Amino acid sequence: MTYPTYQNLIGGECMPAKSGKTSLNLNPADHSDVVGAFPLSQAEDVDLAVAAAKKAFASWRLVPAPKRAEILVRTGMLLQERKEQYARDMTREMGKVLAETRGDVQEAIDEAFYVAGEGRRLFGVTTPSELQNKFAMSVRMPVGVVGLITPWNFPMAIPSWKLFPALVAGNTCVIKPASDTPLSVYNLVQALVDAGLPPGVVNIVSGSGSATGMALLEHMDVRAISFTGSSEVGSLVGQRAAATFKPVSLEMGGKNAQIVLNDANLDLALDGALWGSFGTTGQRCTATSRILLQKGIAAGFTRKFVARAKALKVGNGLNEKVEVGPQVNASQIETSKKYVEIATAEGAKLLCGGHPLTGGAYSKGTFFEPTVLGGVKATMRIAREEVFGPVVSLIEFDTFEEAIEIANSIDYGLSTALYTKDVNRAFTAIRDLEAGITYINAPTIGAEVHLPFGGVKQTGNGHREGLGAIDFFTTWKAVYVDYSDKLQRAQIDNAE
Ligand code: UN1
Repeated sequence: MTYPTYQNLIGGECMPAKSGKTSLNLNPADHSDVVGAFPLSQAEDVDLAVAAAKKAFASWRLVPAPKRAEILVRTGMLLQERKEQYARDMTREMGKVLAETRGDVQEAIDEAFYVAGEGRRLFGVTTPSELQNKFAMSVRMPVGVVGLITPWNFPMAIPSWKLFPALVAGNTCVIKPASDTPLSVYNLVQALVDAGLPPGVVNIVSGSGSATGMALLEHMDVRAISFTGSSEVGSLVGQRAAATFKPVSLEMGGKNAQIVLNDANLDLALDGALWGSFGTTGQRCTATSRILLQKGIAAGFTRKFVARAKALKVGNGLNEKVEVGPQVNASQIETSKKYVEIATAEGAKLLCGGHPLTGGAYSKGTFFEPTVLGGVKATMRIAREEVFGPVVSLIEFDTFEEAIEIANSIDYGLSTALYTKDVNRAFTAIRDLEAGITYINAPTIGAEVHLPFGGVKQTGNGHREGLGAIDFFTTWKAVYVDYSDKLQRAQIDNAE
């Protein structure tokens, strides 16, 4: 079959990787469908992209922030016009169902309009000086050239969470898309370019994490790195960035718990658990991967939940009737398989699913059955380690306090959900759950762009996207203006 060949975007020019090497982007629902060939870039390509971004920074930083924001408004409008096409492209390269890829593009649209407002804020702080006739203020400055390394599960939304705040703040960017889903980054950047973004302000270098990503991390002219991916890779990213003192924002894994108390609206809790566990085929860092059930409702919930998991329609996400798409690639299937084996070996009970789907319509893709494991204990590996697939564990508990303890007993801390009608317990959970996000009577997935997004413990290193991204993509400058016309020595001339 014929397929398009994409190039890197460097300084406004399209160019292949210097090595000429490419890799194929395959549809995970049908490997005979080749989405395109994308460059496999090396350090030499990254050097060119960083040089272009550095050159563009000289003028981009001087464009007034409200003007930079206007480009984001136009980008948001173009994304609205192109939403359907970009969603289809995304389902083809990533697999998740169309309703969800439309949501992914929508999240980028929301981000564009939200962040565009920052163009007229980017607030600093004015404060009194300790000396007379002296004025003190703090202003936000752009960081410079920033490197963005983005994941495949939200191929447009997450790049937009990084690109848009970086741009409105006056930075220039080099972005390395996930090698499984580069097309959605090309589409996003195309919208920016069509909206009037000057050449070199955003540059794309496609390639692997180990070659392209690493070169970006090590480049001395890259002033900050924003990464979303696994905790394993994030740890390497953090260590490498530390060597050149680059600030680095790490958004990583989760092992998110939905707690259901005896007094909960059970149908609501079932809907939430199903969507949280199997939406995006479980491939969200916010996905529900532990369902904590209070003993009084556990048996009934389990029966209904398993029946509904079994009834989910798995298939090609381009088919509107399909509810669960493929996993993104064969290695993710291996991980799901491996964790089902580990769980059952440790004594968990396979209640449904547990296997790759093969044969017939599934033969050309990477599909896995929606899988529910029962009788899981909080100490088992399946209850502690991230799977990133359609595999969820049911854990039973007696008391509310025990549920909080189990929820907190892991190394991650991204999202949590509690289903109850008891307002006192709801607020206690909000206070006590160790996580960056807590939902009450809503599933663990579904964050909105204008709230802080990120987690505690091994999920992140303290930064937040959404509300908080501007903090990462700006650096403070303290400014003192002395209008006394004499030397005034702080801490000395005003001391008694
Ligand atoms: C992710 O899984 O990496 O909150 C991001 C959500 C989405 C974003 C998830 N809005 O589930």
